[in-house]
Amino acid sequence: MKVYLKQIVERLSRYLSKIKTFYTNSVRKMYLAGLVVFSVLFVGCCGSEPLRFPTWFKFGAASSAYQVEGAWNVSDKGESIWDYLVHTRPEIVAGGGNGDVACDSYHLWRRDIQMCEELGLDTYRFSISWSRLLPSGYPNIISEDGKNYYNNLIDGLLEKGIEPVVTVHHFDLPQSLQDLGGWANPLIVDWFTDYAQVVFSLFGDRVTYWVTINEPFILCEGVFPLFLAPYYDDPNIGRYLCNKNVLVAHAKAYRMYDDLFRSKYNGKLSLSTLFFWFEPATPEDEEITDLMFEFWEGRYAHPIFSKEGGWPVKLEKNLADNARMEGYSHPRLPPFTSEEIDLVRGTYDYFALQHFTSRLVRRLRPGERNPMWPLIGSSEMGIIMESHPSWVSVNDWFAIWPQGFHKQLNWLNTTYDLKEIFITENGIPLGPDVDDTLRVEYHRSYLEQILQALHEGVPITGYTAWTLMDNFEWVSGYTVQFGLYSVNFTDPMRTRTPRTSAKYYANVTRTRML
Ligand SMILES: *[C@@H]1O[C@H](CO)[C@@H](O)[C@H](O)[C@H]1NC(C)=O
Ligand SMILES: *[C@@H]1O[C@H](CO)[C@@H](O)[C@H](O)[C@H]1NC(C)=O
Ligand SMILES: *[C@@H]1O[C@H](CO)[C@@H](O)[C@H](O)[C@H]1NC(C)=O
Ligand SMILES: *[C@@H]1O[C@H](CO)[C@@H](O)[C@H](O)[C@H]1NC(C)=O
Repeated sequence: MKVYLKQIVERLSRYLSKIKTFYTNSVRKMYLAGLVVFSVLFVGCCGSEPLRFPTWFKFGAASSAYQVEGAWNVSDKGESIWDYLVHTRPEIVAGGGNGDVACDSYHLWRRDIQMCEELGLDTYRFSISWSRLLPSGYPNIISEDGKNYYNNLIDGLLEKGIEPVVTVHHFDLPQSLQDLGGWANPLIVDWFTDYAQVVFSLFGDRVTYWVTINEPFILCEGVFPLFLAPYYDDPNIGRYLCNKNVLVAHAKAYRMYDDLFRSKYNGKLSLSTLFFWFEPATPEDEEITDLMFEFWEGRYAHPIFSKEGGWPVKLEKNLADNARMEGYSHPRLPPFTSEEIDLVRGTYDYFALQHFTSRLVRRLRPGERNPMWPLIGSSEMGIIMESHPSWVSVNDWFAIWPQGFHKQLNWLNTTYDLKEIFITENGIPLGPDVDDTLRVEYHRSYLEQILQALHEGVPITGYTAWTLMDNFEWVSGYTVQFGLYSVNFTDPMRTRTPRTSAKYYANVTRTRML
């Protein structure tokens, strides 16, 4: 509307300037009159009624178990792949450090709830540590202390009117299961389903929104370029086995919830999907960009969210051709059986979207190597991902381009048949300094895109800032932070202090305006 009015005024003034020489005096009056009309319309239609988030829209913040809890060895807790990795190869963490204590949320959860209250949140998304709840990795032993910890957190949130959004698994597999191959072993489907059944039976009475598995793409592919445990140097096979197993595990857990819990608890399940928006660098790169969408977005979403299910057809063929050319006797991406296609298809009640940034996509030039993401996209697909010169680049993988988020939301809405999109992560990595005006601008500009998409009819029901507070950011350690609150990691009390962005976000949640 504003743009439309501006165009009218611009056209009017262009027209007026042409006849200015003839009717200078009357024109001045008309121009002034035009400005008055414009101002009245502008204030009348848009100025006094800025877009607002509806009262049912849920504002939240997120964290994950290993990144905040600490207390890695209290009580009967088992060892996770992160405990194992940071203790056996401490040199891989930038600046040193590990999650042994992290934010000490295992002890300071009351303060975490208080922060959610200070922010005026409707939801708090956290994850359950598999090895804290099931020390052996299997449901033969359920830890009393683990159970109590999550019960306290859930009840404490509900007491303050904050809805828990719970991630069943967020990157911290029990080491006992990793020793048997972890996500590359198809038996993980049953291990995960058993674990999820314990989680739903203990907490399902109080939780509506479930995320079964966080960012399967990063879970499977983040082992190369090596920024996640188990830190395997196996880019070729493991990630494709994981790709299939993770989808089937999610689906089995979803079907199990249907059978055992849905009629009682009527919760909403999904897995959270990390999407980058890909923009072709030139019109010639459009085809390769489509393939990139299938490689990144489609490979993890198409089997669940599309009408036909299964792998994206063009991509599956492309990957099978690659494998054949490289001398493999089977495609490295394991095919689905038709039973598996049916099992996996439709196992969602909403779409949990995690979006951070956009990338420009083009074909690698002969002899060129992708500096970042050496394999994601590059060797397999011959693709390089970069920033656009006009975007505000924050580091080598992250640029601020809010329009890309809007495009992503529209793409999602039109590509799959979705009744509900819930943003389960969105945030910006900055240094640990306390001043974060750039973070304010990031959240403001990305929320603005949500507001516009909402008013265009994209069914977005919630927004979750990543992250509630500074925490252990995987192999980046404590050198890169996404927190609305800063945490003093040298203080035994792990004092949390609201940043400018926390104050800004609290204003947004209260006024429902930007
Ligand atoms: C737990 O780990 C810490 C190091 O983070 C260590 O100091 C402590 O002795 C360990 N406690 C037990 C009971 O093993
Ligand atoms: C969202 O998707 C629906 C169903 O495909 C379509 O009718 C609608 O126009 C889309 N809205 C936007 C804003 O993309
Ligand atoms: C962090 O805590 C330590 C120990 O309590 C204290 O000496 C230091 O001043 C604190 N740093 C900040 C920035 O508050
Ligand atoms: C929050 O809102 C108050 C009152 O409108 C305003 O004074 C303050 O500057 C806002 N803070 C931020 C960080 O936007």
